[in-house]
Amino acid sequence: MQLLKYLQAQGIGSRKQCQWLIDNGCITLNGKICDNAKDTLTPSEIRSLKIDGEELTVIPLPYFYILLNKPANYETSHKPRDYPSVFSLFPAHMRNIEMQAVGRLDADTTGVLLITNDGQFNHRATSPKHKLPKIYRVTLKHPADETLCRTLKQGVLLHDDNETVSATEAVLESPTTLIMTITEGKYHQVKRMVAAAGNRVERLHREKFGIWDTQDMASGEWKFIEV
Ligand code: URA
Repeated sequence: MQLLKYLQAQGIGSRKQCQWLIDNGCITLNGKICDNAKDTLTPSEIRSLKIDGEELTVIPLPYFYILLNKPANYETSHKPRDYPSVFSLFPAHMRNIEMQAVGRLDADTTGVLLITNDGQFNHRATSPKHKLPKIYRVTLKHPADETLCRTLKQGVLLHDDNETVSATEAVLESPTTLIMTITEGKYHQVKRMVAAAGNRVERLHREKFGIWDTQDMASGEWKFIEV
């Protein structure tokens, strides 16, 4: 891949801006100044990218997959309305490239959120056909018993929907802590299911999406993953 194209794919700037940075000796790759825009490189071999001595996050190409421990009060949207966007949690140059969330979490929901530029992966991971389990830790408003778990597993009818949806697992860890697994990703699904079963969600945390969890990650922390 040509150096100029590589820098553009890293979100560094326009063709003209990248050309200027190269011509002026501002780009260092793997510790070596690269000042010829026509030089070619292998993206997977780039471990370090500096601009004017400042280290930047190297984005794996052509596809990247990110695991984010989403904090509360961030919107899963490029055009947020009430809170900052989850995409604002990433370095500036990453915001110049295509980034799609794999499904959405509500602004007040925390936990596992995958982000990618791989549309096919996104489609596969969110398609109900693939039944990827999503595990949620739900803090309930009212103390519950086994009846709630049974109702959620048997299926509930959501308002404005004429199909029932069910949890594949529903277990109470305490009277107000429910661990619930679903395989679809309908709008506000957990909150609406719990409401349809006669309770209310006070707090919602996604513990797992497929095989991915954020157990050892601080709120707001993110990392590239292999899929
Ligand atoms: N279900 C919800 O109700 N909200 C989320 O953020 C995710 C699942």
